[in-house]
Amino acid sequence: MFKKRVTVKILFLFAALAYFMPVAQASAEDEKAIAIAIAKQNACLGCHAINKKIVGPSFQAIAEKYKGDANAQAFLKNKIAKGGSGSWGVVPMPANTKLNDADLSTLTSWILRGAPNKN
Ligand code: HEC
Repeated sequence: MFKKRVTVKILFLFAALAYFMPVAQASAEDEKAIAIAIAKQNACLGCHAINKKIVGPSFQAIAEKYKGDANAQAFLKNKIAKGGSGSWGVVPMPANTKLNDADLSTLTSWILRGAPNKN
């Protein structure tokens, strides 16, 4: 009796894991795809590359600079929207006025994850 209940619990746990895991993967996948689409639409990739400096710093360098910084998300959302210079040098980033708050969040969390473009 006891063993049977444990088995049922373990089976339930696996069922729950199997149910939730693809969902978690899908949402990270979705964020990546949406972020890349927004970055393309807004010409971010004309000045930024994933892993090398163009006009602006690479997204990987940005992720490295702000690693462990709890204010990075809010700071960078504001910086992307308003533009400006001073973090990386004297060359300013122009303001990106067309992005809404959700787009800024998606972009910023993707960049802070190192801007993955493949699995
Ligand atoms: C015309 C070129 C240009 C475009 C277009 C551009 N950036 Fe930038 N970006 C820069 C430059 C230059 C910097 C460095 C600014 C500085 O030193 O503070 C920068 C900095 C950044 C930073 C780091 C800010 C900091 O203070 O550390 C992020 C994040 C960023 N850009 C994201 C974006 C995103 C997302 C887009 C598209 C919506 C975008 N950029 C479009 C040139 C550009």
